[in-house]
Amino acid sequence: MPLITLRQLLDHAAEHDYGVPAFNISNMEQGLAIINAAQACDAPVILQASLNVRYDYAGDRMIVGIVQALADMYPNNPICLHQDHGHNERDCISAIGAGFTSAMMDGSLMGDGKTPSNYAHNVDITGRVAKTAHWIGASIEGELGVLGSLETGDAAEEDGSGAKGKLARDQLLTDPDQAAQFVSETKVDALAIACGTSHGAYKFTRAPDGDTLSIEQIEAIHKRLPQTHLVMHGSSSVPQHLQDLINEFGGEMPQTWGVPVEEIERGIRYGVRKVNIDTDCRMAMSGSMRRFAKENPQSFDPRAFIRAAMDELEILVRDRFERFGTAGHGRKIKSIPVAQMAQRYADGTLDPVVTPA
Ligand code: G3H
Ligand code: 13P
Ligand code: ZN
Repeated sequence: MPLITLRQLLDHAAEHDYGVPAFNISNMEQGLAIINAAQACDAPVILQASLNVRYDYAGDRMIVGIVQALADMYPNNPICLHQDHGHNERDCISAIGAGFTSAMMDGSLMGDGKTPSNYAHNVDITGRVAKTAHWIGASIEGELGVLGSLETGDAAEEDGSGAKGKLARDQLLTDPDQAAQFVSETKVDALAIACGTSHGAYKFTRAPDGDTLSIEQIEAIHKRLPQTHLVMHGSSSVPQHLQDLINEFGGEMPQTWGVPVEEIERGIRYGVRKVNIDTDCRMAMSGSMRRFAKENPQSFDPRAFIRAAMDELEILVRDRFERFGTAGHGRKIKSIPVAQMAQRYADGTLDPVVTPA
């Protein structure tokens, strides 16, 4: 089956009240482990690649080739190939040109990917990128608000994309009225919001509560924008058993807390349709490789180490498909080619619906 667009997939998820995990990948083995889990659960999936993966680690030819091969090999599991955190027009349009069916234009940050931007910059660049992508039929995710800690005010600089320095509380929580204005001005297909989550393993210094992780903010945004697909970044749960696994076999991870899966489930009830997960996958793989190395000191075949990592990743991914309600929907969706999606954008049938304040 051809790769599916983010818009088509999230429209289906909204219609049937479920969330879709978006897993970051950088290699074939992650892709295979995730699609095997998708097949076992009959789930569609979003596979996303960061700029680091596209420009440095693997390259577009490798990532697009891997994901297209997976789509051919697993025709009953719709796959959206999405670019995570683009910084400018070039990042997003070149991804679509390379075969991605969706891209994130993260205009919450300036082109350096570090400095928080202003609304005018964000709306201008995101709107222009969405218009160009929609001509081709690809989807665009925008972001309003800046990821970071409500506990400390620290921006989410650690790991991958993120701002630097201290942020005010109103930057760390997306404003519902501004979100409505942003969606109607940019026509984005999905909106990433800020609610206290951040990238990486060190999100909270204790189990989060309503002050440090604001699902209420998601509820308020959803009330104002019931038709818009919301995206939760920084949604790794940093499971205790994976922290223990890493530490038991030689790692040194200080105790930390992530986003509890039940809080993500609450978010899904309030319109979260795309749930970004990278850190948990990294922990599952590296922790199980550590264990394999310790338990099999004679082994030197890298496939055996990577197989152990894939097995642990598959367990994690299956759990998220089940918990987010994605399981059982794979075979129900037939992907619409991007050219047909382009026609729908041209007809205006995919224009955002924003209810009056
Ligand atoms: O957005 C952050 C992701 O975890 C990507 O991380 O740039 O190291 O691939 P990366
Ligand atoms: P985590 O670091 O919580 O996995 O978040 C990943 C993410 O949001 C990628 O865009
Ligand atoms: Zn992110």
